[in-house]
Amino acid sequence: MMSTWTKVANVDDVLENGGSCIKVGNEHIAIFNFDNKTVWYAIENTCPHKKQSVLSRGLIGEDGGEPKVACPLHKNAFSLKTGKHLGGNEEWTVKTYPIKVENNEIYLNV
Ligand code: FES
Repeated sequence: MMSTWTKVANVDDVLENGGSCIKVGNEHIAIFNFDNKTVWYAIENTCPHKKQSVLSRGLIGEDGGEPKVACPLHKNAFSLKTGKHLGGNEEWTVKTYPIKVENNEIYLNV
């Protein structure tokens, strides 16, 4: 399958150690960076609990070495690596997307 990388932002446009919401086509994607923009993750922005587009505003952290985001509404937490709900509800897995940074530019493969 062809992979298509789309430039979505410049590194300097996003906050350090937090999330931002990016629209690519019809998809709203939450991108996150850790350690002052050295480690990046991308997941769908919609929380599966109440279908709200809020995950980019969630609190990021780690759970036993697993990077995670907690939804700002009811605190359900999701792995940023796998998209899995860390409370064990398999129906609540969110999509994850490949993300890369080159020359200070952020690219998503959607
Ligand atoms: S909407 Fe995200 S935890 Fe309820």
